[in-house]
Amino acid sequence: MATWSAPGKVFLFGEHAVVFGKPGVAMAIRPRVYVTVRRAKRTTDVKSPYLEECFCQMGVHGTLYVRSLLPSASGLGSSAAVTVATLCAINDEFGLGHTREEVSQLAFEIEKKVQKGRASPTDTYVSSFGGLVLIDPTTKRRLPPQNFPLVIGNTGISHNTSHMLEMVAAFRKASPEIALPLLDAIEGTTRKALHSLNNPKDLGNLMDVNHALLEALGVGHPVLSKLVLSARAAGAFGAKLTGAGGGGCMVALCPSRLRSRVAGAIKACDASPLITTIDTEGARKEKNV
Ligand code: PMV
Repeated sequence: MATWSAPGKVFLFGEHAVVFGKPGVAMAIRPRVYVTVRRAKRTTDVKSPYLEECFCQMGVHGTLYVRSLLPSASGLGSSAAVTVATLCAINDEFGLGHTREEVSQLAFEIEKKVQKGRASPTDTYVSSFGGLVLIDPTTKRRLPPQNFPLVIGNTGISHNTSHMLEMVAAFRKASPEIALPLLDAIEGTTRKALHSLNNPKDLGNLMDVNHALLEALGVGHPVLSKLVLSARAAGAFGAKLTGAGGGGCMVALCPSRLRSRVAGAIKACDASPLITTIDTEGARKEKNV
């Protein structure tokens, strides 16, 4: 029997722009998902296509138990975290000897197959390796970890990432004279953020600008705007939607002492707050219980 866990993720800067070759910054966050795999003659009790595909691709049979503390379908990378943790647990239980890079790549292929051709390489990479990650068109690089105190606000409004991507692509095609400068400006916020990692006030301002640009791109939502404004009014350094938008989650960078106040402000808007920070470890082996 082998138990592994993997963290979720948030985009701090650059979502949507990364799809067009621009840089972005994402961070692995707590909580984690936990997966226990036990070898068996047949694969049973696997209720998700992601998990079925994990056993299939690894060419083994087993049973598994999943415990997730991450809200699902909210843009926090829960499907990637489950896939990464499952592959790591299978790899360990059967002594298959795959490297972390191989697991991360395979997790991405599985997500792509199950999601019919579209998956975010960011989610699987960040969940596998943890930390703060710079996403570039050609590489992904871990940045020095930062203990950003974050509050995430989950609108509970489901969004469809593919649909949001199609909307942005259509806008870019129909109005390049508007969309291209917006994407360039998002790149600007990401690049400036890389020089402001030690300055939460500046970083917060850049998050505010990034949010406005995402709204202009058409991926905002009235509830996201409400949560972003409430978080700022409660003392956050800055706040923005995170991920595909159109629902899902927002993220606020807060002074440590104001985290509970910001979480309270989000709750007062009938959304679910999550106080969190960086997870530097990525996928990790757990003690079997
Ligand atoms: O909803 P999420 O967290 O999977 O966000 C997707 C982020 C995009 O930049 C819109 C797409 C991507 O693959 O990076």
